[in-house]
Amino acid sequence: MSQHEYYSLTVNGEQHPVQDAWIGESLLYVLRERLGLPGSKGACEQGECGSCTVYIDNAAVCSCLVMAATAVGSQIATVEGLNTDGSLTDVQQAFVTEGAVQCGFCTPGLVMAVHHLLDHNDSPNEQEVKEALSGNICRCTGYGRIFAAVESVISVRKSSAS
Ligand code: FES
Ligand code: FES
Repeated sequence: MSQHEYYSLTVNGEQHPVQDAWIGESLLYVLRERLGLPGSKGACEQGECGSCTVYIDNAAVCSCLVMAATAVGSQIATVEGLNTDGSLTDVQQAFVTEGAVQCGFCTPGLVMAVHHLLDHNDSPNEQEVKEALSGNICRCTGYGRIFAAVESVISVRKSSAS
């Protein structure tokens, strides 16, 4: 590949052409600056904060650490794709209801991390929740409201399944 390439990425089930990109651009940069998907946030850009969390082929990854061109052929999912009809997911609603959003910068990454956890474990214990969210840093909330939001989703999902 030359330094400036054309390729396309599959994001939230749709093909997105990426034109005139430098081949070393991160997936986070391409999503935000080239594809108009600003939901994933860039803070540390070093894989430390989790604010840029997306899924690649159902694995939760820090998009700041992935070169976009290496994701060609993969299924990429961003926070914008969680609910395409504009409504909030149960996790997003619980964050609002439980007061787990202050500045909101960490919220998209945390919401992605919580959905990923609950997609793989519908009944995580407190330790499992803490471990699953340990890669997502929040500077505002002290985490208590975030854990309360997760507990609330678990409990509502359990009661609606029974
Ligand atoms: S911006 Fe990617 S982990 Fe912080
Ligand atoms: S709400 Fe501000 S960083 Fe988490």
